[in-house]
Amino acid sequence: MIDIKDVVEEIKNRCDIASVISEYMPIRQSGGNYKGLCPFHGEKTPSFHISSSKQIYKCFGCGEGGDVINFVMKMENLDFLDAVKLLANKCGIEINTNMNEEDKLKMEKIKKYQDIHLEAARFYFTNLSKGKNPGYDYLRKRGLDDKTIKKFGLGYSQKSWNDLIDYLLSKGYDKEDLVECGLVNHKQESNKYYDRFRNRVMFPIFDYRGNVIGFGGRVLDDSLPKYLNSPDSIIFNKRFNLYGLNFSRKNIINRTIVLVEGYMDLISLFQYGVRNVVATLGTALTEQQGNLIKRYADTAIISYDSDEAGIKAALRAIEILSKIGLNIKVLNLRDAKDPDEFVRKYGLEEYKKAIDEATHYIKFKIDHLKKSFNLDKDEERVKFGKEASKIIKELKSPVEVDYYTNYIAKQINISTESIKKEVYGKDYNKVYNNKYKKFEKKSERAIEKPKIIEKGKELVEETLIKLMLESKKIREITLLKLDKTDFLLNESKEILNYIIKNRDLDKITIDKIKSLNISEEYLKDLEKISLDGIDMNDIKSIDEILKNLKKNNLQEQMNKLLIEQKNIEQQKTNNDDLKEVDVKVMEIALKIVEIRKMLQSL
Ligand code: CTP
Ligand code: MN
Repeated sequence: MIDIKDVVEEIKNRCDIASVISEYMPIRQSGGNYKGLCPFHGEKTPSFHISSSKQIYKCFGCGEGGDVINFVMKMENLDFLDAVKLLANKCGIEINTNMNEEDKLKMEKIKKYQDIHLEAARFYFTNLSKGKNPGYDYLRKRGLDDKTIKKFGLGYSQKSWNDLIDYLLSKGYDKEDLVECGLVNHKQESNKYYDRFRNRVMFPIFDYRGNVIGFGGRVLDDSLPKYLNSPDSIIFNKRFNLYGLNFSRKNIINRTIVLVEGYMDLISLFQYGVRNVVATLGTALTEQQGNLIKRYADTAIISYDSDEAGIKAALRAIEILSKIGLNIKVLNLRDAKDPDEFVRKYGLEEYKKAIDEATHYIKFKIDHLKKSFNLDKDEERVKFGKEASKIIKELKSPVEVDYYTNYIAKQINISTESIKKEVYGKDYNKVYNNKYKKFEKKSERAIEKPKIIEKGKELVEETLIKLMLESKKIREITLLKLDKTDFLLNESKEILNYIIKNRDLDKITIDKIKSLNISEEYLKDLEKISLDGIDMNDIKSIDEILKNLKKNNLQEQMNKLLIEQKNIEQQKTNNDDLKEVDVKVMEIALKIVEIRKMLQSL
């Protein structure tokens, strides 16, 4: 099919949303529609609705909703085009977007090379899982279980020059293709072809969609080189790829990703239950990889080896990631040499704790710098102070500048004034204040207004209102449990007043409330909302809606407080009485804690 728009339409025509969703979660029919437990937020009674006639889904609990493509994007953490491709594939639509001959040949070649790699991965996996072999023994010795071996498709390449070639030739592939995609070497002088990977444990490398695009092969002893990797090819480019992303992108929590260096670190962490991990495979992190991380995360926790090489690599990764604008922290492995050793020695809980306690990258840089000075000597203290000041210069937020200036000052028992002078030169007052002013100006613009209420939250209110209008029984139950302040929309509050006054009516029609001051949009929503999926006699499902209402309200209060807090922080100027501002921020923080508690107890 030529046009992407046609493809999208055709997908929506052919893929029935309920049947696609049912592949991901249990759903149950309710009238002409379906419902189930929402996969996007934790819940015990189903508020996730699928409308067959409209081919959309909607969760009345968390507000998440959309069409079949949105669902797959969200569920698989894919971008639009990849979700379209996945669905097109599922319902047998061929995508052939306006390609010229050259591009088409390239696409075909990519497909062929990926097929070859998949075939090779299966071959190596069979070698490892059938009967006794040194590869399997090695992995077991390293503590990997069968489930993990299978999940990552780990394999073994025999001690042979032509095992893989023979197999792939028998499958009808061409020698030259095997060379070009990096699985086979060709010696020009003798015109000999031989397997690239021999007598190694094989790690298939996947792209983020799960296609096999290369291999890493590890020796079974201490000989060198320890790892042999596939060369770059039309399907494999180290700079653009992150090992493990195909697995971890579905397990990212709080938009945080842990970054490790090696195959074994990642696999071992996965086996122990840390699943938001990607690996850079020993090469320096590239900007492209950084951007890939940014698609899935706002915070990167660097968990590289604790040796000097690992620290250097971490410092380089920090440079890349800070340019991209990620929050960066560095995990402390204590006495373990790598994450693999750490998680084996101390277990999952301790690693999770180490994630929570990871060091802000500026502190990590200062601490690392400190190691190269003997702070007992005055001279060295001065040098350290000067070098550390350079790190401060990178910081944009005045709050951070203050915080880390203090941190340095404490290390060498020097005044923060002199560090600021060091950072901003002799006229530091002028420069420093200018910097603040610039920041203030920016933040004046950046002052956030409370966002308009999400549609999902509106719908929860409107659904409840409609139920109360409709049924006297529900009205009686709910009026005991809520009051005006539970609603976010003025319209809902106003209708509630009317309902209270007319609570004895059997049914209140929407026409009756039209005389109130209610927006067109609200009325339209009310009319549209279908109560088909809700069992009016089931108090539990009414309670669930009430709970969501209260939750939304608390969340909204919390959002307002968070924004208020942010605005105060951003407006904070050099001249402000810091204590007064801090007290304000603290007061808000306490309120937020209170709300969090209420949310948890719901
Ligand atoms: N690496 C490589 N070639 C080498 C050494 C390392 O390609 N000669 C890459 C591998 O991708 C490896 C990563 O760098 O996974 C990190 O190296 P290292 O920490 O030594 O490897 P681990 O994965 O921890 O392997 P192991 O624990 O088996 O030694
Ligand atoms: Mn290791």
